[in-house]
Amino acid sequence: MALAVVRIASLSDHLGETVTIKGWLHQKRSSGKIIFLQLRDGSGFVQGVLAKEDESEDIFALAQSLTQESAIIVHGVVQTDQRAKNGVELQVRDIELVSLTHDYPITPKEHGVDFLMDQRHLWLRAPRQRAILKIRAEIIRAIRQFLDSHEFTQVDPPILTPSSCEGTTTLFHTSYFDEDAFLTQSGQLYMEAAAMALGRVYSFGPTFRAEKSKTRRHLIEFWMIEPEMAYVEHDESVAIQEALICAIMQHVLSHCEQELRTIGRDTSKLEQIKAPFPRISYDEAVAFLQSTGQDFTWGDDFGAPDETKIAEAYDRPVFIERYPTSLKAFYMKPDPARPEVVLCADLLAPEGYGEIIGGSQRIDDPELLIKRFEEHDLSKEAYAWYLDLRTYGTVPHSGFGLGLERTVAWICGLDHVRETIPFPRLLYRLYP
Ligand code: 4AD
Ligand code: MG
Repeated sequence: MALAVVRIASLSDHLGETVTIKGWLHQKRSSGKIIFLQLRDGSGFVQGVLAKEDESEDIFALAQSLTQESAIIVHGVVQTDQRAKNGVELQVRDIELVSLTHDYPITPKEHGVDFLMDQRHLWLRAPRQRAILKIRAEIIRAIRQFLDSHEFTQVDPPILTPSSCEGTTTLFHTSYFDEDAFLTQSGQLYMEAAAMALGRVYSFGPTFRAEKSKTRRHLIEFWMIEPEMAYVEHDESVAIQEALICAIMQHVLSHCEQELRTIGRDTSKLEQIKAPFPRISYDEAVAFLQSTGQDFTWGDDFGAPDETKIAEAYDRPVFIERYPTSLKAFYMKPDPARPEVVLCADLLAPEGYGEIIGGSQRIDDPELLIKRFEEHDLSKEAYAWYLDLRTYGTVPHSGFGLGLERTVAWICGLDHVRETIPFPRLLYRLYP
């Protein structure tokens, strides 16, 4: 039988036609006289129906013997079904068994998260996990479309590096023949070099933090988008961040309707995400926490509960600007009007998802940078190339890092970042 192979996602374009679907059996229900097969092929899910009186005995018996996650090729007629999510079902005419599965470990009953994490390679097939990965891919697409259409060029920084970007305490150590090397914490420093060559650049790649944090916001390996812009100062950088987040939201709302429904996301909360986002200073955030009766001293960093409290005061993401210089990385430019704070902003997502962007204007003065190397105990030799960027044609420049997994967790409304990435690397989890 040479029938057109159709992806489930486009079945509604083939009403009345006999088609072939290549996929797997997700679930099965049977009432004796009629069998319902939930089929999946990666692009979506559809129900196949077999009535005993309409089928040959062989096909009906084969359908009855099929087990969860058996691989099958199904031929059938596409029909409308108002009750189905995609409006269609398949009247099954024939089934080819590709491989029979025995004892699939993930059954329709409730499983604990640890068990599911051990079975992550199989768990990805579940409708909810599939939907999250689709949304993740659309978020990435939206980011690329936004940056590519705003004159940014993608540049790929190295993953093996000789020095740190975000402090030495969270470096992943490895060896590079006879030298010490580290997995990158952020491509930023290299992106600054690239910005001086190409003007506006961005990187998108994995980053690593050997952080002993076991929270719902921390991964050991996560993906970051890092734009860096020559001749762009702090305020303009923040405006670009705001436009980027709005573009992501619009794209996801218009391209992921079905996936958002599958995971049960309340989209009214996402529809509110429109510019302008509130901008408050670190000082104002501190005053706000103190006004709630909390004991908080200027100069302390916000913990996750503090961030949640601040973010809850708004219905959209909020920028917190101008943190104390002592709290932030060595490369951030002090506010000329108030050198005890830096020209930086963290963007806190609503609903308690915490910091999704960290960004700043960078130090452009070579003398000040040398002073910072000393204060932060960073060797001048290791960062000589970075200092060169200030020696040869230094200009004001800014950039930021958007954490992909925290963004996915927020947009999908997930409890934990572990479901935002196919194979999460968490404290004490390197398998599978
Ligand atoms: O604030 P961070 O540490 O900033 C930087 O790395 C800068 N060099 C970026 C830049 O300016 N180019 O990290 C940026 C973002 C955070 O806001 C957060 O969303 C995410 O990366 N992030 C993590 N996500 C998951 N797990 C972790 N352990 C994360 N650490 C940071
Ligand atoms: Mg940060």
